[in-house]
Amino acid sequence: MIRIYKAKDYEAMSHMAADFIASQIILKPNCVLGLATGTTPIGTYNWLRKKYEDGRLDFSEVHTVNLDEYVGLAGDDPNSYRYFMNTYLFDHVNIDKFSTHVEDGTAKSLKKECQRYEKLIRSLGGVDLQLLGIGNNGHIGFCEPADAFSRVTHIENLTESTIQANSRLFEDISQVPTRALTMGVGTIMRARRILLIASGSAKQDAIRDSFFGDITPRVPASALQLHQDVTVIADEEALAKCDMGDDDVIVV
Ligand code: F6R
Repeated sequence: MIRIYKAKDYEAMSHMAADFIASQIILKPNCVLGLATGTTPIGTYNWLRKKYEDGRLDFSEVHTVNLDEYVGLAGDDPNSYRYFMNTYLFDHVNIDKFSTHVEDGTAKSLKKECQRYEKLIRSLGGVDLQLLGIGNNGHIGFCEPADAFSRVTHIENLTESTIQANSRLFEDISQVPTRALTMGVGTIMRARRILLIASGSAKQDAIRDSFFGDITPRVPASALQLHQDVTVIADEEALAKCDMGDDDVIVV
């Protein structure tokens, strides 16, 4: 089942998403959170930091597993997703860094690293709540449109459109890694609950096709239609091509 919440704008989406994640941590203080990077969750992480600073949230027992990491970038590289997570969240809350996990994009054997990561998620007891953004092409994690849904953590070749979209964060497009390690669609689907956030007009087609179109590996996020507990929090712009009538929340 998918519940779609319409938020007025990016700030309202971020606030609502932070409340959702905070409620998970309050319900189960030692929960396993699956986390995402990118522009979309920055506001959500800011709100989570604020809740921690206000003494309303305790991260001391929380475990995290991130969706993906670029191949070739070490954790101290400012463009790596490990660096992103430290900068926007982990360095500012009372989480134990040893309980935070991101794939190692510099591992000698990337294949073994994928297997290790998949086992790690299992050993933690699985993901309680997985936070997702969505690519303009409907990707989740770095699972790009393909002929079949990926099942487990794997090496992914990034599409031209993803490299283009992500180049804004690099000095030059030639510096954007062309490969990443990412949880598979199957890994994501094994999370008990999923929260997908989206903002802005660039996401309109992806949101419409994922939740109102056919289930197809050409739109990786469409697999979420088969998950039993998905919440989408998106702003008005991102939802502009979905017919929600006058409702601020619908169930599809
Ligand atoms: C990042 C990730 C990606 C992003 C997606 C949207 O960890 O998994 O799927 O969520 O590319 O990125 P933004 O938020 O930058 O538009």
